[in-house]
Amino acid sequence: MLELTFNGHANFKLSDSKHSIIIDPWFTGNPKALISPSEAGRLDAILVTHGHSDHLGDALELSKRHNAVIIAPNELALFCQRRGAKVHPMNPGGKFAFDFGTVKMTKAEHSSAFIDRGSEYTGVASGFIVDMGGKTLYHAGDTCVFSEMKLLGELHSIDVALLPIGDNYTMGPEEAAKAVELLNPGSVVPMHFGTFEVLEETADRFVDMIRATGVKPIVMAVGQTERFE
Ligand code: NI
Ligand code: MN
Repeated sequence: MLELTFNGHANFKLSDSKHSIIIDPWFTGNPKALISPSEAGRLDAILVTHGHSDHLGDALELSKRHNAVIIAPNELALFCQRRGAKVHPMNPGGKFAFDFGTVKMTKAEHSSAFIDRGSEYTGVASGFIVDMGGKTLYHAGDTCVFSEMKLLGELHSIDVALLPIGDNYTMGPEEAAKAVELLNPGSVVPMHFGTFEVLEETADRFVDMIRATGVKPIVMAVGQTERFE
């Protein structure tokens, strides 16, 4: 059993009967978030796909609050370590068995830096394939569609894929529909839309476009929890 809770944008919490982890925990400043990071519940690990603020979000605070490891691309993990977090650095293609399950880092075609007054390189952008609670979940991170998604679909039997569909900074509905075809997941949850002005406002066009694939779309409301048995 795997429970998936949507916190808005690309922020998802995963729980099985024993453990909870979060991916791209952006609460503070997230116009879609309904809760503060302190309300996210107990966390065993924090996965961060890349260094942009809408993904790194509240990772450092949550890591310290729960003494939870940050799992991230190498340079981003070291960036977090310099700020006092417990970290586990990875790079695409690598996998590691944690107490809560196995994480494989996947490639994503996107930039990655921590930007405030300057810009600090935080390694490559990534996605994650998480085996937890007997289910396989793919969080694509921020990315365009790429043909190796077909390979990910061959190497992993993906139960649920979380795909960005907002366009402009990531793939839009057309490319995301192609990604669904390549990955062939059991179901797909659209993310990274409706948050910023330039992004696709709703998942309606995406849902229309994947009708022919037979893959089940799950458009999650913020705060909604889906249970995968
Ligand atoms: Ni980004
Ligand atoms: Mn983003």
